[in-house]
Amino acid sequence: MTRLENKVAIITGAANGIGKEEAILFAKNGAKVVVTDIDEEKLTETIELIKKDSGQAISIKHDVSLEDDWKKVISITENEFGKLDILVNNAAILSRNGLADTSLEEFEKIQSVNNLGTFLGMKFGADLIKKTAHGGSIINTSSGSGLVGSPGSTAYHASKGAVRLMTKSAAMELAKYFIRVNSIHPGVIETAMSGAKNGDHPLKDKIPWPEFGKPIDVAYGALYLASDESRYVTGSELVIDGGYTA
Ligand code: NAI
Repeated sequence: MTRLENKVAIITGAANGIGKEEAILFAKNGAKVVVTDIDEEKLTETIELIKKDSGQAISIKHDVSLEDDWKKVISITENEFGKLDILVNNAAILSRNGLADTSLEEFEKIQSVNNLGTFLGMKFGADLIKKTAHGGSIINTSSGSGLVGSPGSTAYHASKGAVRLMTKSAAMELAKYFIRVNSIHPGVIETAMSGAKNGDHPLKDKIPWPEFGKPIDVAYGALYLASDESRYVTGSELVIDGGYTA
């Protein structure tokens, strides 16, 4: 038996980076996956990779900051697969601007994707889990930036700190429905967002581990939190950062 057999999972921001790797790993472990992103073209690649491996998946164009888009994703998931067990709120955007250089519009944009997007996902995702499954797992992607500060990226830190505490509040609220809610805190992972490659990144000297993380390192953490192996884990923070915030 595979670790996510008979489970249905929604993964946002699954066209690239960490979300893409999570979708592929979840499908390999038996989940039926609904992959969503604003980047429709790259989402096709994720679907092709899953189907090549005989996995089951559908893709939906989805802006996580829009309530109507969430309603569409939830309704398609229910019609297509009949239920929801797992939701990974992964989509996000980064800004490296500090306090003085962050405009009101930029601050609001970051909150609307990273913070509001996660809130809407939990709200509508939890409703469908309650209605169609016997408990479930919601995994919110925070960051090392949701645990400690660093110069610059004020708006991004604000959003990831909010994700961390929303997770704990929702975990307490949803425990009675056997819905677990946990956050993942990646450090520097080699993706387009971090821009880390060839051993170069502004935080390089602060990370004890001699290499940056890879998307699969985060995906394995998400797999544990998605599976029944973590059945008594809720409101927790899974840090995957090579010792950066230790
Ligand atoms: P990425 O930039 O490679 O992928 C993010 C995906 O989100 C993209 O496919 C993008 O199209 C999608 N997206 C952006 N705005 C969207 C919206 N409004 N609606 C739907 N989809 C949208 O980023 P990466 O590195 O894979 O990050 C994944 C998650 O991990 C994010 O939550 C990020 O904040 C977090 N993280 C990443 C770290 C890293 O070093 N890469 C470190 C700490 C946290």
